[in-house]
Amino acid sequence: MDWGMENRLARIIKPGSHRTVMLAADHGYFLGPTRKLEDPGSTLRPLIPYADALMVTRGVVRSSLDPQMDIPIVLRVSGGVSIVGPALSDEGLANSVKDAVRINATAMALSIFVGTAHERQTLLNLAELVDQGTEHGIPVLAVTAVGKELEKRDARYLGLACRMAAEIGANFVKTYYCDDFSKVVESCPVPIVMAGGPKLETDMDAFELVHAAISEGASGVDMGRNIWQSEFPVAKIRAVRAIVHEGANPKEANQVFEEAKAGMKS
Ligand code: 5RP
Repeated sequence: MDWGMENRLARIIKPGSHRTVMLAADHGYFLGPTRKLEDPGSTLRPLIPYADALMVTRGVVRSSLDPQMDIPIVLRVSGGVSIVGPALSDEGLANSVKDAVRINATAMALSIFVGTAHERQTLLNLAELVDQGTEHGIPVLAVTAVGKELEKRDARYLGLACRMAAEIGANFVKTYYCDDFSKVVESCPVPIVMAGGPKLETDMDAFELVHAAISEGASGVDMGRNIWQSEFPVAKIRAVRAIVHEGANPKEANQVFEEAKAGMKS
């Protein structure tokens, strides 16, 4: 692997633990003003010290983030669809690699929609992005998106989508947790980070989800709503970090969460 590519990946997936806590906040690219992300700058600012990378669009980078901050940007570069449009899978490349370089992106992220009418188009988008990323030494994160079809989140489908993303050349892959998640990880030759999904009912549910994914081989998480829609987002990300980087179990993570909450109140 080229030095630049390896260096960028190491800025995201930390060499010490070989893991990462990515903070996902790209939702607006198809969902508009998601709850708690109406003003991305004020939501994200307190969380940035606890994240290993931030997944956002160029619009949020330029409008809402301090250029002097020290955090790798995983730039969402696919788009062109909306939640009210005819097909969430009909994505194209919505950002040039030249602009990703201008932003100093550490990686670029794009969704693939395997098994949809736009499977070929989104897989060829990935191939094109990998070619361009390789030329510039910028890693590509493939997101195995399911759109509104949440029931697709099983090991057979996700295993297929993750493996295909890796075969096409993605440097790392983001996918959902599912039963038999370890099979998805084992059959994917590049690191997998787990997407959080909609906010879970309890904090403990989120800690258990993260712990299960890490125990079954995930290289980390790329979580959004379960962190920044929490009543205590800083405490929440600190607890997630404890699981990902320090091997905490859900009970220990909850203790980190409670202590961080108490520290904030005092
Ligand atoms: C959408 C994405 C989001 O970044 C992803 O869903 C992670 O956020 P959350 O944890 O809120 O699901 O890639 O395609």
